[in-house]
Amino acid sequence: MFLKKLKLVNYRNYLDFEGKFDHLKTIIIGQNAQGKTNILEAINILATAHSNRAERDNDLVYWNKEHALIFATVQTQNSNLEIALQINTTGRRKLKINDVPKKAPQADLLGNFFAVMFSCEDMYLIKGSPSIRRNWIDSVLFQLDSKYHRLTQDYQKSTTQKNSLLKQSFESGLSRKALKEQVEIWNNQIINSGSEILATRLKFLEDIRPITRDFQKNISKQNENLDLIYKSTVQLPDCVIARSFSDEAISQKQYRSNEIASPSVRNDKETLKSRFKKALDESFEAELARGQSLIGPHRDDLLFLINDKEAKSFASQGQQRSIVLALKLAELKIIEKRRGEIPVLLLDDVFAELDESRQDFLLHNLPKDIQTFLTTTHLSGIQKEFLRGAQILEIRNGQLVESAECGV
Ligand SMILES: Nc1ncnc2c1ncn2[C@@H]1O[C@H](COP(=O)(O)OP(=O)(O)OP(=O)(O)O)[C@@H](O)[C@H]1O
Ligand SMILES: [Mg+2]
Repeated sequence: MFLKKLKLVNYRNYLDFEGKFDHLKTIIIGQNAQGKTNILEAINILATAHSNRAERDNDLVYWNKEHALIFATVQTQNSNLEIALQINTTGRRKLKINDVPKKAPQADLLGNFFAVMFSCEDMYLIKGSPSIRRNWIDSVLFQLDSKYHRLTQDYQKSTTQKNSLLKQSFESGLSRKALKEQVEIWNNQIINSGSEILATRLKFLEDIRPITRDFQKNISKQNENLDLIYKSTVQLPDCVIARSFSDEAISQKQYRSNEIASPSVRNDKETLKSRFKKALDESFEAELARGQSLIGPHRDDLLFLINDKEAKSFASQGQQRSIVLALKLAELKIIEKRRGEIPVLLLDDVFAELDESRQDFLLHNLPKDIQTFLTTTHLSGIQKEFLRGAQILEIRNGQLVESAECGV
């Protein structure tokens, strides 16, 4: 997969930007706040349909303009794609692919272009809030599974409706029985989309686990076993997923990860649904008291264990960086494996976070002909080997000021 051209109009601090890329490596250099990350963010939106840092589409549009445009020319193995995405301040989007307007701009964008973004903010994957880890899983799954985006939208709609019902429960004057019946209507929808989301996430983790594990083993010179554990608000049956643990087991650090049999997600969707229902039924009073929905994939988390100890509490800074590096490399590999295309790699100022040996590890574990974009404020922290033959774009205040080839 190769991004040949990118044009941004009224996107963030770019009124009009055009970049043409014909090198495998493009280095975007510039001082702070000039617009380097904005370029990678725009590219990443083409892959995931979401910004990794904007809360609303409005933030992506140049101040006081009505809409932003992202145009891209992409070379895939079999075709040439012209993607034109319009992002409006209202939150509505429009999409054309090869000049054909698409009905569902978010869902139809996904599956055309693939990217892996690695930025300093990814370091929060280990110690940050659960939502960061859920967002990471979702952003990869949006690229891997075309059904997943619709599932999350359906799920979110039902959860929002249920939340407003729970919030208004006191003013609504409904009897407890009537309220429970209404909540159950939403719960049934939540169970349908939610159990599919759960099954998809679990299957993804089942696939990415051994790959991440191998990378971590190699980065740590065979010293560290990394494990990924899905911590669900629904008590998952062992036959559905062996890599989930109850809260008690987690608090008592009873992981015993090597003793657990390999999971089989595919066969047991009905068990998953009935567990989901049970958890929702048991939480009715708690949800009513809190006025919000407490059970389901929107409240789940992902744990990282290093040698059976939780990384969140025990991993050093260096170990955390290694885990994130292992995760990103695994993400790349899994997209390539499932989609048959090598994604574009977006490295946002990340070399500042990686010491020489981790930079080395990254560079030597990338596919040979991967297209990479890298942002930096200066070239000095970057390995010479990486700079060789790279195209350099210099950005100043949302303008391209120079383009050269690096002769290092
Ligand atoms: N909607 C917007 N309209 C106009 N300008 C914006 C908008 N959103 C962000 N900006 C501007 O974009 C700039 C930040 O861009 P970006 O985050 O890409 O910088 P950067 O070059 O990556 O900086 P750093 O090296 O600090 O990471 C800021 O000057 C910010 O004011
Ligand atoms: Mg930046």
